[in-house]
Amino acid sequence: MQTFPIAHAVHNRYTELYQDKPLVVRSPGRVNIIGEHTDYNEGFVLPAAIDKAAYVAIGHRSDNNIRLFAEELDETFESSLSTLAPSDKGWPNYILGVADQFLKSGYTIGGFNLVLSGDVPIGAGLSSSAAIECATGFALNELFQTAIPRLELVKMAQRAEHLFAGVRVGIMDMFASAFGKKDHVIKLDCRSLDYEYVPLKMEGIKIVLFNTNIEHSLASSEYNTRRQQCEAGVALIQKHHPEVHSLRDATMAMLHQYVEPVDALIYKRCKYVVEEKERLLQGCEDLRHGDIKALGQKMFQTHDGLSKEYEVSCKELDFLVDRVRNNEAVLGARMMGGGFGGCTINLVREEAIEALVQETTAAYAKQMNRELLTYIALIEDGTSVIPI
Ligand code: GLA
Repeated sequence: MQTFPIAHAVHNRYTELYQDKPLVVRSPGRVNIIGEHTDYNEGFVLPAAIDKAAYVAIGHRSDNNIRLFAEELDETFESSLSTLAPSDKGWPNYILGVADQFLKSGYTIGGFNLVLSGDVPIGAGLSSSAAIECATGFALNELFQTAIPRLELVKMAQRAEHLFAGVRVGIMDMFASAFGKKDHVIKLDCRSLDYEYVPLKMEGIKIVLFNTNIEHSLASSEYNTRRQQCEAGVALIQKHHPEVHSLRDATMAMLHQYVEPVDALIYKRCKYVVEEKERLLQGCEDLRHGDIKALGQKMFQTHDGLSKEYEVSCKELDFLVDRVRNNEAVLGARMMGGGFGGCTINLVREEAIEALVQETTAAYAKQMNRELLTYIALIEDGTSVIPI
């Protein structure tokens, strides 16, 4: 049986603080193989839950208060169910926002104590926030016996992020955290929310993440802007095709006809999304046939689209992708997640990983004057209670 040292650590911290036995929930971060910025356009995505996760230990209180402790920050935060509001502090919002969703959806919960810890690097594009939100949602659901189905908890986590963190994220991150399955990627249709597990069969190849170590301050405002630009493109098409509800329904021909002549920038953004939609479907077939080389080529194309057309990359991400582009041992690489920093995802032949990490770390330090952090991502199960 798998052991989770951080689950034991949050459990012990809780017991030390509150002399009581808590419930412990683990919820992982995610990678996404291909299909970036497609979720809020009702396209497909191909994420998977990883071996890095958020952990919460939670227990009842006899009043309506909420008392949070963040292990890594050594910080306490207090609030109450009657005064729930976004805080300037940041991290408590991912918990308070979810508690707020329980109340807004009409569920009865009481006060609680919660200890938070985890090993998903923050701001690295691995969805540490979705991991905390899903862990909190599942923990509250168990603690207060609200019997909310998994998919509904995912939607509540997404709404929490919209309202308490102010970012209009799609559903991918929370879905991947909650529905992840060991050694599988999830082919998720973000319109119908139908999903399929596709085995991640990559003999001798591993997923290597290079963390730029950059948290870009523009990330959330630019993210919301990209969403608006996609909506603007849809509005232009809708004048002629009322049946088009999102870029999911749009074709390149429609973009050429109705968007390109009106707004070159909106056209560029929408073009990336429409092409990425198709790339994902083909990439998924490549994976099924074990053609990792073909999948990898598409990842490079995705990166170029994200960098030049969607313009959500940054020089550090571009540097890391360009660096491995002609390396035989790297089958595919691209920036991953919202953008403006965070990680690149690389499919790398196992025997070459050590040398690649060494030489990329040195080059990154020299050219970008920053430390490169590297992780090898293993694909694990989604959110669950950890019995202790
Ligand atoms: C962030 C968001 C996701 C998704 C990606 C881009 O991770 O949280 O919903 O839009 O960016 O694919």
